[in-house]
Amino acid sequence: MTFDLTLMQTVAFSPTLAADEMVKKLRAEQRPVRHMGFGQAPFPAPARMVEALEASAGEKSYLPVAGLPELRDAVRHHQARHLGTDPEAFDVLIAPGSKLVLYAAQMAIAGDLLLPVPSWVSYAPQAKMLGQRTIPLQTLLGDDGMVITGEMLETAITGARQNGLNPTKILLNYPNNPTGLTMPEPVLEEIAEICMRENIVIIADEIYGRLSFDGKYRSVSRYAPDHTIVTTGLSKHLSLGGWRLGLGTVPKRMQGLFETLVGIASETWSCVAAPVQIASIEAYRGHEDIEQYVTDSTTIHAVIARYAARRLKSFGLDVPMPQGGFYLWPGFQSAGRDEYSKFPADSPALASLLVEQHGLVTLPGTAFGEAPENLRLRLCVCDYDGADAMNVLADKHGKLTEADIGDFAPNVIAAIDSLESFVRNEG
Ligand SMILES: Cc1ncc(COP(=O)(O)O)c(C=O)c1O
Repeated sequence: MTFDLTLMQTVAFSPTLAADEMVKKLRAEQRPVRHMGFGQAPFPAPARMVEALEASAGEKSYLPVAGLPELRDAVRHHQARHLGTDPEAFDVLIAPGSKLVLYAAQMAIAGDLLLPVPSWVSYAPQAKMLGQRTIPLQTLLGDDGMVITGEMLETAITGARQNGLNPTKILLNYPNNPTGLTMPEPVLEEIAEICMRENIVIIADEIYGRLSFDGKYRSVSRYAPDHTIVTTGLSKHLSLGGWRLGLGTVPKRMQGLFETLVGIASETWSCVAAPVQIASIEAYRGHEDIEQYVTDSTTIHAVIARYAARRLKSFGLDVPMPQGGFYLWPGFQSAGRDEYSKFPADSPALASLLVEQHGLVTLPGTAFGEAPENLRLRLCVCDYDGADAMNVLADKHGKLTEADIGDFAPNVIAAIDSLESFVRNEG
């Protein structure tokens, strides 16, 4: 019997993971490649976490579906401290990566999703897998951050309703992937007010929240504590993406939502690996060495991202100055000298050309919902040895400058150099 293909719902491979797998393959074939395609935090696993994981390797039982109570408790107090909210006002769900909390949250809240443009690659495919629709919400990007004005949000909600859609949730992400920008407090406050009034649930993806270059933890949940699900985890600020430990905080006032999310967890992932959960308690206890690790990581990301932005601006790219995380979002149109510019007409073609001719891996803006003719690429600036970077930072007594980057991140410099020669020759 042959399989009836019409029965299959096709799901494409995530573009970020595809870029990383392509680079691994090219490198295994000894081909020169400059990797700006995948956002993996590069620092070594924090020593305390590794020790705790080793010590709990023998733990083999299933844990409670919502997560280990001690871990959930540590998370609750940690999050309440950073968010400035009441620790008793929300529940905590532990999941194998925040990606699955985001998916479960989209599943649990029926209706259509208000989705800023640009947005991280997986939100829209997740909505599609759930048979839900997305409502694009244009953003304004500049050196002062990523902005959605109240007027833009109200117009999107009203327009969607007039077109028969049912906007019930909005996904915000700050500091942001792909733009490297964060959202200013007044913007978060205004969005919160409108969402409360319009009965829109806010899903706040704060996975880069602790990597703000100004050291401030922003959260829309300060302004709408009973309307906001916050998602985060260990992947970015502790460089532990492969541990698959993510979490969501869910307001108790959203009655029944937490139970539904735990129900979804019980029918899908059951629980996160027991040793990982036990070790992860250490991430949330406020240990000085862990806090120092986060500060040091942020310092290094800031120096590299700002250096990269300055370089890109110097050869004519239109790039907002990053404010957190490890991404840049350059536009190429401004760098075309005249109508004879040899840049391709759309961002996927531009990204392909850079791989084929320069071995430079990036992701096209289209992967983030951007129109193809807006020649935007997302660049990651984390292709370096994080242990070397931490050593250089220690040698410099915590004060890193652009002049030190060559000592630990030659690949990042070489990638920008090759982009510069491409722009100067083709633009
Ligand atoms: C914006 C954003 N949200 C969520 C995730 C998923 O992170 P996790 O490892 O917690 O699943 C990522 C990872 O790349 C991300 O960039």
